[in-house]
This record gives sequence, structure tokens and C-alpha cells, in this order.
Amino acid sequence: MAVPGSYCIGDEERREVLDVLESGHLFRYGDLDDPKFKRKVYTFEKEFAEYCGVKHALATSSGSGAILVCLLAVGIKRGDEIIVPAYTFVASYSSTIFAGAVPVLAEIDENLCIDPGDIERRITPKTRAIMPVHMLGNPCNMDAIMDIADRHGLLVIEDACQACGGAYKGRKLGSIGNMGAFSLNVFKTVTAGDGGVVVTDRDDLYERAFALHDQGHTPNRAGVQVGSRCILGMNFRVNELLGAVALAQLRKIDKIVSTLREKKATFKKMISDCDGFKFRTLNDPEGECGTLCTVIFDTAQQARKVCETLGTDTVDHSGWHVYSNMEHVSEYLKEAGQPYGKGAYPRTDDILSRSINISIGVVDAGLGAGFGINILSSDEEIEAAAERFRAACA
Ligand SMILES: Cc1ncc(COP(=O)(O)O)c(C=O)c1O
Repeated sequence: MAVPGSYCIGDEERREVLDVLESGHLFRYGDLDDPKFKRKVYTFEKEFAEYCGVKHALATSSGSGAILVCLLAVGIKRGDEIIVPAYTFVASYSSTIFAGAVPVLAEIDENLCIDPGDIERRITPKTRAIMPVHMLGNPCNMDAIMDIADRHGLLVIEDACQACGGAYKGRKLGSIGNMGAFSLNVFKTVTAGDGGVVVTDRDDLYERAFALHDQGHTPNRAGVQVGSRCILGMNFRVNELLGAVALAQLRKIDKIVSTLREKKATFKKMISDCDGFKFRTLNDPEGECGTLCTVIFDTAQQARKVCETLGTDTVDHSGWHVYSNMEHVSEYLKEAGQPYGKGAYPRTDDILSRSINISIGVVDAGLGAGFGINILSSDEEIEAAAERFRAACA
């Protein structure tokens, strides 16, 4: 699988996993004073919170579960509206729907993230929250989004599932809104095969999130808490084996992201004198993860021709991440009286039809990134890919 985190699995992950297996203690809870309890999940959460510069991190079984936990923790209720981008993974919508809320889609702009101007236009008396999604590791315009949220009294839940390791103006993505959600699935900068993380600075939201992810229990539950559980929860827990891999990967994240950024800068430089396209805009060029290089052509026809030569597809045909390809979401949008289906978000359609995602680290057909390089590519391989791209443009 050609993705950054899994390319970097090595002795560190092996050591952490063996540590757990040899202890025989797989459950995430244990006595912190017992040397047989290796506390991998506990340590991962502490280090993840520190890495993000927040008070709390909570490991969950997926990024989708992490978003749902965030929405329920902040008190999203049936009928609330949440503004989400028209270009994102289905989980941003499905978690909203499972929380009982209505996803209200907003257009993206040329950074392929939600357009703050369109967020503002879509606010109604029912709007409770904004869910900026840092698509393809690129930070949303968080200053503008936080300003809108402040002025309208809205919550902000960051979907940072594609952006672990990214930052906006010096603050880690996921740590800027009320809560943030990350994914550790196989396509991400760091991975444990699957898994997710919730982060927040607020003690009350952390306690609610913890309870929601584990049957109503208080953080690091000790024993049966009959009589003291104030909220109904589910089971989104992770075990020590996942914690062990996640911990080893987290300790590599800075190296992974800096390598991706370096390779992306090299590739970008090599294709920057081609005509007919521009690079997508970046709200914080130093903070983006560097997992993909998105180019936006002047016309959809040009973009399609280049794709044909390279054996890839424009982003609008990339499958999973485009609202108009989500027939299973359309049903809910229709029922809620929201626009749905191709043409409902014309600016998003137009930008995506002219865009190509070139892989730098995440080769994912679901992102339309069938062409590019990876985190292990040598300078010669980067040059060869750049040459193919230049030839296709010519
Ligand atoms: C933007 C976005 N949100 C949410 C998710 C859901 O993460 P998971 O697959 O871990 O449930 C993903 C996963 O690809 C994603 O890309």
C-alpha cells in the first residue's frame, strides 16, 4: 500500500507490538503501577495531546468514530444543521447524519477546502456547527472560519482525518476548533491499519467524549461505575496492539511530514515552468502535510487530456470524495430538502473537473491520485515523474 505511514513501519513498531504480546495484556485499561501493563494506548494519548498542543487526546477505533464522538460530545441534536464542504470523504457526512443532524454542504475554493464566504451564506437559525475538513493535508482558512463561528455562536469540529501532522499558523490542525478528529487508517500520514483520535482542550468535552467512546465511563475507568454514569456511550475503544503501532508511528510523524514536504517542494519546482495550470492555493504553505500536489488547469478538457496521458483521473472522477458520487448520502440530503446530485454545487464541480491530484505520499485511487511519487522516491524517480508530467502538459 503506497502511503506514508505504512512505508515507514520498522523495528520501532515491531518492538512496541512485541512488548504488548509478551505482556499478554491487550486491553487498554490496566493498573498503571503494574509492570505487566504496558499502557501503550494511555501513552499514545498523552503524546498525541502533547504533539497537538492540547490538553486531551482520546484514541478511537476509526476517524469516522472520532468525528461522531466529537459531534455527540458537543451536544449536536436531531435537526441541527452542520456546514460541511462539498468535497470530502463520506464520513464527514455520515457522522453528521448518525448524530441526527443535517449536513449542509458548502462550496470549496481553490485550495480544495471549504470556502468561508459560502459557509456564511448557508447559515440558518438551525446551524449549530461548522466542520472544516483539511482536505489532502491542506489547512482550511481557520482564521476566517473561527471568525464566522464567533460571530454566529457556532461550534467548530475540525475533520483533520487527512491532516495529521499539519499546522495552521503554528497551531496543529485539529487543535484550533472546539474539537478535532483524526484518522489512523492505511491512507494517512501515520497509521495503525485503522483507528482514530479525538482532541480537545476542554475537560468537559473530553469527559463526554470518553464516556461516549466507552459505555458512559469516566476517563481510564477503574471498575464498574454503576450509579455514576451521566451519559450513554458506545464502544469505540482501541486495544493495546493498535496503541503500540500508533505510538511508534506518532514518534515518526515529524520525519514523515518533513520528508513529504521536501519531496513535494522538489517535484513542484521541477514542473513549475509548465503552462496551462496553477497549483492549488495553500492557506499555510509551511503547515500543509505535503501528501499530494494538486494542480488546477485552465479548462476541464486540458486536465482530462493530461490525465489520459498519465493514466490517472481528474478529481471530479476520483470516486469516494466527491459529493455527487455519494448516492447513499443523496437520499438523506433529499429528505432534508438540501441540494444534491451533480450540478448542486457548481463551483465545486468546476474546480474538481479542472484539478488533478498528484501523489507525493498518498497513492489513492479514491483521491484520484493514481500518478506521482511516494515517500521513498529517489531524486531520479522524482525527476522521471516530473518529466512525464511536463511531457503530458506539452
Ligand atoms: C476527510 C476524512 N474524514 C473522515 C475519514 C474517516 O476516517 P476512517 O477511515 O478512519 O473512519 C476519512 C478517511 O479517509 C477522511 O479522509
